[in-house]
Amino acid sequence: MSTDVIFKSETMKSTDFTFDSKVVNVFDDMVVRSVPYYPEFQRMIAEIATNFAKPDTAIYDLGCSTGTTFLTLDSVVDSTVKFVGVDESQEMLEKCAANLEKNGVTRNFDLFTADLNRQVLIANASVVVLCLTLQFVRPLNRAKLIESVYNQLNPGGIIILVEKVLGESAEFNRRFINYYYDFKRRNNYNEMEIAIKREALENVLVPYKVSENIKMLEDAHFKNNEVFFKWYNFAGFIGIK
Ligand SMILES: C[S@@+](CC[C@H](N)C(=O)[O-])C[C@H]1O[C@@H](n2cnc3c(N)ncnc32)[C@H](O)[C@@H]1O
Repeated sequence: MSTDVIFKSETMKSTDFTFDSKVVNVFDDMVVRSVPYYPEFQRMIAEIATNFAKPDTAIYDLGCSTGTTFLTLDSVVDSTVKFVGVDESQEMLEKCAANLEKNGVTRNFDLFTADLNRQVLIANASVVVLCLTLQFVRPLNRAKLIESVYNQLNPGGIIILVEKVLGESAEFNRRFINYYYDFKRRNNYNEMEIAIKREALENVLVPYKVSENIKMLEDAHFKNNEVFFKWYNFAGFIGIK
């Protein structure tokens, strides 16, 4: 796994963050060092999905990146369940296909590019996952995307979201962000890397509060909406159709 040193260069200027080839190459290292409890909520996603993924249906992973969620799901989900990965980055999908092959995934799978700011076609899905993806969809398009997931999901199916979130109050939001930067320091990101990445993500990753994410699920008519994971400014949500 290549180490994420993208924002380590002294001469690095901050530009808007994109999932370009530099990021694709270090993504797996970046995500475990930048997202608290990443392996644990991947495990939880698989655990929850196992209960809802019906034989001969599909699990969609919107913003599947390098395919980590599929790799965790593969050992626990019925082999007749098809995996469908969607990402706007062709390079991510190529890495995902290589990872699935390298790890001996033999089930039926399909990977295709799409921009989630527009419509995405979902067919025969019992589970739809958006793990750290919805936060990159423009706020203007977010509710529409969640509604369209609801409309296309099979009855009884679930949506699983993991998002960076804002605190409900300015007081705790500020503290949660500080605790988060301490987490990044513990994972060997230096002050400059943290500062440049923060600036690069500013207009690109737009977090909502927990209450706003729950309201979005409710407005889309999802039921039994719950927070299944929470660490300061990260949260996981589930809802049932
Ligand atoms: C943080 S990564 C997701 C991580 C991945 N789901 C996981 O569990 O490791 C966000 C992904 O969403 C994709 N993405 C961002 N905006 C998108 C959009 N508008 N349409 C489709 N994919 C998008 C990026 O290319 C990237 O691969």
